[in-house]
Amino acid sequence: MADPTQLVRFVTILAMCFLLFHRSSSALPPTTAGTLCIPRERDALLDFKAGLTDPGNLMSSWRGVECCRWTGVVCSNRTGHVVALQISSESMDKLGGEIRSSLLTLRHMKQLDLSGNDFGGQPIPELIGTLGRLTHLDLSYSNFSGRIPPHLGNLSNLVSLRLKYMAHGSYSPDLAWVSRLRKLQVLWITYVDLSAVADWFHAINMLPYLIDLDLTSCGLQNIVPPPVHSNLTSLESLTLDLNPFNTSLGAKNWVWNLPSLQGLSLSSCGIHGPIPDAVGNLTSIQTLDLGFNMFTGIVPSTIKKQKKLQNLLLHYNFINMDVAELLHRLPSNELYVLFLEENHLTGSLPDQLGHFSNLTIIALDNNKLSGEIPVGIRELINLSDISLTSNNLHGTITEDHFTNLTNLQFLYISDNSLTVKVDSTWKAPFSLVQADFRSCILGPQFPSWLNQPHMIDLDVSNTSIHDNIPVWIANSSAQYLNLSRNRLAGMLPTFSLSSPLRILDVSSNQIVGRFQHFQTT
Ligand SMILES: *[C@@H]1O[C@H](CO)[C@@H](O)[C@H](O)[C@H]1NC(C)=O
Ligand SMILES: *[C@@H]1O[C@H](CO)[C@@H](O)[C@H](O)[C@H]1NC(C)=O
Ligand SMILES: *[C@@H]1O[C@H](CO)[C@@H](O)[C@H](O)[C@H]1NC(C)=O
Ligand SMILES: *[C@@H]1O[C@H](CO)[C@@H](O)[C@H](O)[C@H]1NC(C)=O
Ligand SMILES: *[C@@H]1O[C@H](CO)[C@@H](O)[C@H](O)[C@H]1NC(C)=O
Ligand SMILES: *[C@@H]1O[C@H](CO)[C@@H](O)[C@H](O)[C@H]1NC(C)=O
Ligand SMILES: *[C@@H]1O[C@H](CO)[C@@H](O)[C@H](O)[C@H]1NC(C)=O
Ligand SMILES: *[C@@H]1O[C@H](CO)[C@@H](O)[C@H](O)[C@H]1NC(C)=O
Ligand SMILES: *[C@@H]1O[C@H](CO)[C@@H](O)[C@H](O)[C@H]1NC(C)=O
Ligand SMILES: *[C@@H]1O[C@H](CO)[C@@H](O)[C@H](O)[C@H]1NC(C)=O
Ligand SMILES: *[C@@H]1O[C@H](CO)[C@@H](O)[C@H](O)[C@H]1NC(C)=O
Ligand SMILES: *[C@@H]1O[C@H](CO)[C@@H](O)[C@H](O)[C@H]1NC(C)=O
Repeated sequence: MADPTQLVRFVTILAMCFLLFHRSSSALPPTTAGTLCIPRERDALLDFKAGLTDPGNLMSSWRGVECCRWTGVVCSNRTGHVVALQISSESMDKLGGEIRSSLLTLRHMKQLDLSGNDFGGQPIPELIGTLGRLTHLDLSYSNFSGRIPPHLGNLSNLVSLRLKYMAHGSYSPDLAWVSRLRKLQVLWITYVDLSAVADWFHAINMLPYLIDLDLTSCGLQNIVPPPVHSNLTSLESLTLDLNPFNTSLGAKNWVWNLPSLQGLSLSSCGIHGPIPDAVGNLTSIQTLDLGFNMFTGIVPSTIKKQKKLQNLLLHYNFINMDVAELLHRLPSNELYVLFLEENHLTGSLPDQLGHFSNLTIIALDNNKLSGEIPVGIRELINLSDISLTSNNLHGTITEDHFTNLTNLQFLYISDNSLTVKVDSTWKAPFSLVQADFRSCILGPQFPSWLNQPHMIDLDVSNTSIHDNIPVWIANSSAQYLNLSRNRLAGMLPTFSLSSPLRILDVSSNQIVGRFQHFQTT
């Protein structure tokens, strides 16, 4: 539900409420004479409301004669006709019940948004397909289920159709109705069973103005249609996550031939085989997500042509190449996010890593990296999240590596042969939130620089610490503290009652005493 478009919608509703309020304060008398609202449409709205259940009283403003001031009702200021109905719900109290045919009286309606409500698993009413002027329809997250009525294909003016997160049991045996929506720019149909649709690409290819297509988790099986001319020249965002394509993607595949594409997401689609050279044809791409598949081989050098690439996600695949060569192939300009974890990457990190100076997140855990962590890493001044867990890295990390990493929050280097050696008086330039050093060498002294105010998760288990248990851990903000398998000695300090600590592992040490809280005043 944490969807940016929902936020936008919420802000829009707020803005709208403000406008409506503003107008209402200009003191129009509550008589039919001075109102904008058309009485026939008001009656229809009241009947529509009567069919709905509204436990949270979201429609409490729906009374009086001026229906154009009711929450979620937008009228044309010229004709007075209702042109939009936006009663999406963000709260726990949702609308439900029956969608009555009185809605059809609102013949001038262009936008209908019922998203975020709970219609109890009933099918989308066929009658919505008769609202012929609709340009925008959003029934996302509203617990509609069953067959999507092909009647929606009659809405020939639709520019945007949003059916996101449909309830379990939603399906459509064909997409012929979609191909009739020639003006569509935005099409989101997710969690709808489309497994019976053999030629889904042909239906979509009839939509030449399409900009944003999301068919996440629709049971689509075929991504390799017979060779056709692709009409999708305007497509900027393509999301096909969680469909069981279970195939390889050849150089001729249509996904590499989308000249405007900025975002491509094919995560968890069972795709195997190599990433073809044709990936470099996506020269406008900003986000490429091929994670959780079975891609093998190397990342082709043609990826250098993706000059606008910001986010590259290739995690959980079988990419098998030298990490320095891979990094060398990437266009360095604007890269922010690099997910390469759970692959078969080898070799050592190059000192030139620092050239990716916008890099914010880099994940390389569970590969076969060797060598030392280059000191050039300190040039990644925007780095907030680095994960190198479970590789064969060795050597020593010092203050030098961290000099300019003022934004670092997440540091994961567990299960490597790494030693962290900093001066005992060193103050870190960053404030960590999670830090995992399991089986590295931090000791013999307990690293006091880890006493940081925003720490939530700290794992220093098996890190050769031979010291007294520090008293400051009793005041730590951490919820998870793993100090096990060290040679910590002394009394376990008394924890504050307000301590957020939920898991403390001090096993395999020489600590005495028992766990207790003290009452703060
Ligand atoms: C009517 O609304 C439009 C935008 O919806 C606005 O540009 C216009 O100024 C409004 N006209 C009046 C008379 O309020
Ligand atoms: C959808 O409706 C069904 C049937 O009334 C109900 O059991 C389920 O909890 C609802 N789901 C959501 C997410 O509201
Ligand atoms: C709308 O579409 C349905 C199914 O696609 C069709 O049976 C019906 O005749 C159409 N109705 C109108 C008014 O065009
Ligand atoms: C899409 O391309 C096909 C050719 O492959 C063509 O027959 C069809 O008319 C095109 N559709 C649109 C909507 O342009
Ligand atoms: C695709 O692969 C997944 C796991 O690899 C398997 O569970 C699924 O049955 C396969 N689907 C098809 C249609 O082959
Ligand atoms: C993709 O780029 C290759 C060169 O890397 C070129 O030969 C090919 O024609 C392009 N394919 C498409 C579909 O644009
Ligand atoms: C970092 O990104 C900004 C745009 O977000 C870009 O202007 C700048 O050139 C990038 N930095 C580098 C070193 O490429
Ligand atoms: C780092 O982040 C800041 C803002 O978050 C941004 O202005 C800057 O361009 C980024 N990149 C570099 C290289 O500083
Ligand atoms: C740290 O950053 C400052 C400017 O932000 C720069 O002058 C300095 O050379 C950097 N230090 C290192 C070690 O990269
Ligand atoms: C503890 O760390 C050492 C390396 O310092 C490693 O060899 C050993 O396997 C680790 N022990 C456990 C139980 O993880
Ligand atoms: C603490 O870390 C060790 C590995 O060093 C692990 O076996 C143990 O399960 C962890 N304890 C908790 C409570 O997570
Ligand atoms: C921990 O907090 C308590 C209560 O705020 C305070 O009395 C004590 O001095 C603190 N201990 C340390 C080691 O910061």
